[in-house]
Amino acid sequence: MLSPREAVRTLPSYHPPLAGRDGLRLDFNENTAGCSPRVLERLRRLGPEDLARYPEREPVEGAVANFLGIQPPELLLTNGVDEAIHLLCETYLEPGDEALIVVPTYSMYRIYMMAAGAQVIGVPASKNFAFPAAAVIHAITPRTRLIAIANPNNPTGAIAPPEELVKLARCAPNAALLVDEAYFEFCGQTLLGELREIPNLFVARTFSKAYGLAGLRIGVLAGDPEQMRAIRRVSSPYNVNAVALACLPEAIDDQAYIQQYVSEVLESRARLESVLDAGGIQFWPSRANFVLAHVGLTGADSAAFVERMRRHGILVRDRSSDHGCEGCVRITLGPREHADRLLAALRETCEELGIPLGSSKQGASRA
Ligand SMILES: Cc1ncc(COP(=O)(O)O)c(C=O)c1O
Repeated sequence: MLSPREAVRTLPSYHPPLAGRDGLRLDFNENTAGCSPRVLERLRRLGPEDLARYPEREPVEGAVANFLGIQPPELLLTNGVDEAIHLLCETYLEPGDEALIVVPTYSMYRIYMMAAGAQVIGVPASKNFAFPAAAVIHAITPRTRLIAIANPNNPTGAIAPPEELVKLARCAPNAALLVDEAYFEFCGQTLLGELREIPNLFVARTFSKAYGLAGLRIGVLAGDPEQMRAIRRVSSPYNVNAVALACLPEAIDDQAYIQQYVSEVLESRARLESVLDAGGIQFWPSRANFVLAHVGLTGADSAAFVERMRRHGILVRDRSSDHGCEGCVRITLGPREHADRLLAALRETCEELGIPLGSSKQGASRA
């Protein structure tokens, strides 16, 4: 009888709760305002000819390289960062190799690493989810071939200092270090400038978050040209579809749109953090477009909180099953009017669940 590889048979399945997402979707860190109008205009101009042809990645890679200030051989456009992670696993991991992640973190690292037959070592984050630099370095062995770090991290919003990531890359010269900058636009910190100095470093970016193009599935993987040649060999030549390739140049050209959107999200994040702070709800200050908050303290567990918020028209994500996140929910921020709706629902939910929002003094709850 046909049977999948052992690594696949034992793989946990990851089912993001995508069904029935009615309401304001603050549960997947998506852009809730939508993409640049220039992208929509480009979509309207697509014709049958655009769809009939196999997509040509190179010209758009040239434009993206120019935008990022690197050379085309240093990057590959991918079907979202997810594909970039998958390609790194396919390129560097043999069955039995070790792959390092910091937990909690983005779920797909573990899945693709395990699918490649690697042994995944989850290094617990430090106190308050700080990046455990020394522990990650300590966990490196001669079998370590891939290290994946989301920076800022999801779901915690914590950021690792660039010098610690550089040190990590240098401590593991035989491993690929992926620094996943999916939330770069909300923090402005990048390791792109280090690529030429560190041949085992890779940086990933996505257009799913700030750019509002999660449905188009487009991201970037950047690294040393020689390493990128190997990764390109593993990738399909048509991994990014023609619609995404047509729209991307418009999206990156409209930086005024991105700046406006990001500045509203940062304002919303500050508003949410200050309401949580004043209400004595523990949260972890975030450098991304979401905040992780601990709502289970008062007996109202996180599932009940998520359900109440849903009844008030706001979807947020229960992260209780993530390592060290019992009782926590992750709340995505959007532009001003979405923050208004979020904060109104938050007040009502807290009132219904007996969480005394607004009663304790400022500064009580920052973790
Ligand atoms: C850290 C991180 N990396 C990658 C992704 C997925 O990005 P993409 O939509 O480009 O596959 C996410 C999505 O939530 C994420 O949080």
